[in-house]
Amino acid sequence: MSKFKKISALLLTPVLALSLAACGSGSKETAKQGGTSGSNSDIQELTVKISHVVAENTPKHKGALAMKDAIEKASGGKIKVQVYPNSQLFGDKDEYQNLVANNVQFLIPDMAKLVGNDPGFNIPSMPFLFSSDKAAAAFWDGPKGQEIFKRLEKDGVLGLSFWPNGPKHLTNNKRPIKSPEDVKGLKFRTQGGQVLEKVYSTLNAGSVSIPFNELYTALQQGTVDGQENTFSNIESKKFDEVQKYMTVMGHTRVDYVLMTNTKFWSSLNPATKKIIEDGVKKGTEVARSEADKINSDAYAKIKQRGKTQIYELSKDEINKFREAMKPVYDEYGKIIGEDIIKDAMNR
Ligand code: LMR
Repeated sequence: MSKFKKISALLLTPVLALSLAACGSGSKETAKQGGTSGSNSDIQELTVKISHVVAENTPKHKGALAMKDAIEKASGGKIKVQVYPNSQLFGDKDEYQNLVANNVQFLIPDMAKLVGNDPGFNIPSMPFLFSSDKAAAAFWDGPKGQEIFKRLEKDGVLGLSFWPNGPKHLTNNKRPIKSPEDVKGLKFRTQGGQVLEKVYSTLNAGSVSIPFNELYTALQQGTVDGQENTFSNIESKKFDEVQKYMTVMGHTRVDYVLMTNTKFWSSLNPATKKIIEDGVKKGTEVARSEADKINSDAYAKIKQRGKTQIYELSKDEINKFREAMKPVYDEYGKIIGEDIIKDAMNR
């Protein structure tokens, strides 16, 4: 890992800076209200909502809380931030439309749920693409990642920042999975279609996307045989209680984009926007620095609970999966763009 990558992984993503610059020229009303002095009287009184679907003990929730703390403190309580975890406010099915309608100001969805908006969001689902959270951050902070974020603007949505969760692992109820052949004939829940669907069809397995808040029941009732997720999502939602086998594979990732509504963003005066920008920076820093540790702690807890039989693939076994999943690159390399895939591979 180069020094530059390490530093860039911790810095605010350039799109936020660009978005701020673009929105800073905002409406006349904003300019009148605002000024750039940053004195407390310039700060708008606001309540903003952050909604997400995962549990509290996760990188995403820790990041959201850090963002809330930073914003509330810096605004002297003038800006209130309400954080709704566990799909309490909106779930996978309705959160995006509610962001577009400005009923919620910040979402942090798994990019696999945005593939219908743009195929670039398939990147975290491309098998064995990134070797670490930092490599993923370097891609999303870089020009190709930022270009993909920008494509959300057609919906009135701004991609502000990349937050990692981490590598996903396979769980299922039918048999230990040690080779690509073991996956054949099983049915998996995925976060979204396109590449994830292709991953399973390539392995001669079935897949269906199911919202996160319906997943425990789907696994318990056998609607699907298995699913893929990060240790922190598996542990915090207790999927290991309803899955007999887990294979540590890291073939795909859960990665997030923190996003906001363009109209909301342009309604902020410079002093208010600066506080929220700093809050986003803080949340990003916490999510990025804690994701790996939260996931290792979650793995230790899953082992300790002893509900699921764990199999850690060897390097050779991983290479067999890598080989078996090559057709995903043949098809989706073109759809996503070979230049984008190449850039991601070089991180
Ligand atoms: C899932 O649906 O499994 C994950 O995308 C949830 C999340 O937001 O991490």
